[in-house]
Amino acid sequence: MTDWNHIRKQFRAFNDSVYVNTAATGLIPDSTIDRVTQLYDYHARRGAVAAESWVDEMDEVRAKVARMIGAETEEIAIVPNMSTGMNWLAMMLKSLGRIAVPVEDFPSLYSPWEIHGHKLERISNNEAGEINYEEIRQSQSPIFAISHVQWHTGYQLDVERVANICQEKNQLFVLDATQSLGTQKIDVKKQGIDILFASCYKWMMCGFGNCIMYVKKELLEQYPGGFCWQFRAPEGLDFCPDAKRFEIGHERAEAFFRLGNSLDIFHEIGMDKIEKRVKELYEYLYAQLRENNIETVFEYPEKNRSQIVIIKGEPELQNQLAQKNIFVSHRGTGIRISLHFYNNKEDIDTLIAAIKAIELQMA
Ligand SMILES: Cc1ncc(COP(=O)(O)O)c(C=O)c1O
Repeated sequence: MTDWNHIRKQFRAFNDSVYVNTAATGLIPDSTIDRVTQLYDYHARRGAVAAESWVDEMDEVRAKVARMIGAETEEIAIVPNMSTGMNWLAMMLKSLGRIAVPVEDFPSLYSPWEIHGHKLERISNNEAGEINYEEIRQSQSPIFAISHVQWHTGYQLDVERVANICQEKNQLFVLDATQSLGTQKIDVKKQGIDILFASCYKWMMCGFGNCIMYVKKELLEQYPGGFCWQFRAPEGLDFCPDAKRFEIGHERAEAFFRLGNSLDIFHEIGMDKIEKRVKELYEYLYAQLRENNIETVFEYPEKNRSQIVIIKGEPELQNQLAQKNIFVSHRGTGIRISLHFYNNKEDIDTLIAAIKAIELQMA
């Protein structure tokens, strides 16, 4: 049986706070801090010798990412953030010229395309914050991009449904899993995802400077190229056959190792168990909110709920909670609460009790 209390001890924030803000920034486990300290020590003592010794381990991190999402290692790049990777992708697919995206999705998803001259076809969200699947069906662009879980509403997409729509129309399906990877199983091949991104400083718990980028092999073959001198063959730029073409310049060993440590944790616990735990926690949160008459901004069918829940509240509520060492974020029209496997029911109880006490005080 998984000892969640023991796992939680790896996250020092819980020594003195209730942290329910992973949708903003995830906590880094102590074992990652130890790993990074070792790495810097070796770097400080041996410089290039240390750097050269890390190459194989960085390859291993790409392989672990591939295993986690059901891809092949050659289809994986680890880029500094999603914006960087999306820029490379928009350049690689320049000839397609047009992309459909939901309005209000995260800007890193659509801005790079605009900057590289693609036309944006906007898909609307309805008032309840739900994605309009019919508009996706009718969209004309050769590419469709969307977040798996919306950062400001918590709406969770029906990935298979969208993948089917895209497949029927021969439309490339780009999924941003920044707000979901690490909380549930994702299998790019089984789920029909052509391209996937996940910035890793939230649910992947590995700090800043890492984003997973998956591009399916067929696309890498169809659109050959590279973006840096490393990939320049004597005859031109069409040199790098795999996704490493997106990792330009020197490699960020330290960032890779932070990601590697998180991947080991996910693997050790098991994504099935993590998925179940996260779901139990957010169902408990929903139940407690209802019982205590705390209103959510959006009400979704069960299958579209996620570990991000927005309750009605002004920015002042975030400040008042922070004074009690309870951390949430004000986003969009309310207060965003976000739960990872390292949270527990006591965190939720403390949060709810604090909200009620603040409400009473303000009344
Ligand atoms: C849905 C989503 N995608 C991506 C990002 C981060 O993008 P980037 O890695 O370009 O900073 C965020 C950050 O909040 C996000 O919520």
